Amino acid sequence: VTVIFKKDGKDDRVAKGEPGASVMEVALANDIGEILADCGGALSCATCHVHVSASWMEKVGKPSEEEDAMLEMAVDPDERSRLSCQLKLSQELDGIEIILPESQF
Ligand code: FES
Repeated sequence: VTVIFKKDGKDDRVAKGEPGASVMEVALANDIGEILADCGGALSCATCHVHVSASWMEKVGKPSEEEDAMLEMAVDPDERSRLSCQLKLSQELDGIEIILPESQF
């Protein structure tokens, strides 16, 4: 499953992950330094915050209540914000575009 990490004004970084892996795990495995993931995917840090590109919002679906609550701790969350440790890859999400935040704190 291909994941495309984008950041304003910089080259896209293209990474691959196995189905079932989280976007956060793919980011860590590929040295995407913008994702800190301090809690290791336990849904308790919000430093894995990302934005999902508009065209992928529908396929990705909505965050859980727990994720939604934790997103309030993220920096400048918006309606496209997600915690990348909660975004699990599947074939359906092949080519998903993830927009990295400027900062996690
Ligand atoms: Fe901590 Fe996602 S890694 S909430």
